[in-house]
Amino acid sequence: MLEETIISHLIRPEDLQHHGTLFAGRMAEWFVETCFIAACRLTGKPEDIVCVQIHGMNFRKPAGNGDILEIRSKVAYLSRTSITVHGRAYINLIKVPAVSGMITFVTVNKETRPYAHGMVLPEEYIAENREIYQEAIKIRTSR
Ligand SMILES: CC(C)(COP(=O)(O)OP(=O)(O)OC[C@H]1O[C@@H](n2cnc3c(N)ncnc32)[C@H](O)[C@@H]1OP(=O)(O)O)[C@@H](O)C(=O)NCCC(=O)NCCS
Repeated sequence: MLEETIISHLIRPEDLQHHGTLFAGRMAEWFVETCFIAACRLTGKPEDIVCVQIHGMNFRKPAGNGDILEIRSKVAYLSRTSITVHGRAYINLIKVPAVSGMITFVTVNKETRPYAHGMVLPEEYIAENREIYQEAIKIRTSR
């Protein structure tokens, strides 16, 4: 399944750091989780997915107590054993993302050895998501 994964969180006092804004660690946890779910939904085998790299998360706007954070994730690129997922987070439905980034997961067997997942992105999906597809290729080639 290649549909966008969307998860919302209400930010509470326990999610804040000493500046009174959302703690990056909490944001990172929610962000990884939402991207992980996108990879799991694609393969249907959550037990076979591990994270190999968080390519970068850009925090552009702070979120505060009582804000609603919506995290959206989408598969950006597939290679032989890897699945790269793009994530974005929005505060109170403001259209400009407050956070964005890419995460790569790998399909592994019980011995944690990578195996080929055998999936490819349909051409139509690539065309509809060209921006994140190209961003993922750029990240991959710069490794
Ligand atoms: C993920 C893991 C199995 C990969 O093992 P590996 O020996 O590097 O495997 P490979 O070199 O065959 O690479 C497997 C895939 O990962 C990709 N990969 C490896 N290192 C990567 C990196 N730093 N960034 C992005 N992709 C990476 C490779 O390109 C390959 O993808 P492809 O087959 O689609 O081209 C191994 O690194 C591991 O077990 N890591 C720990 C995972 C984990 O515990 N995650 C939770 C973190 S708390």
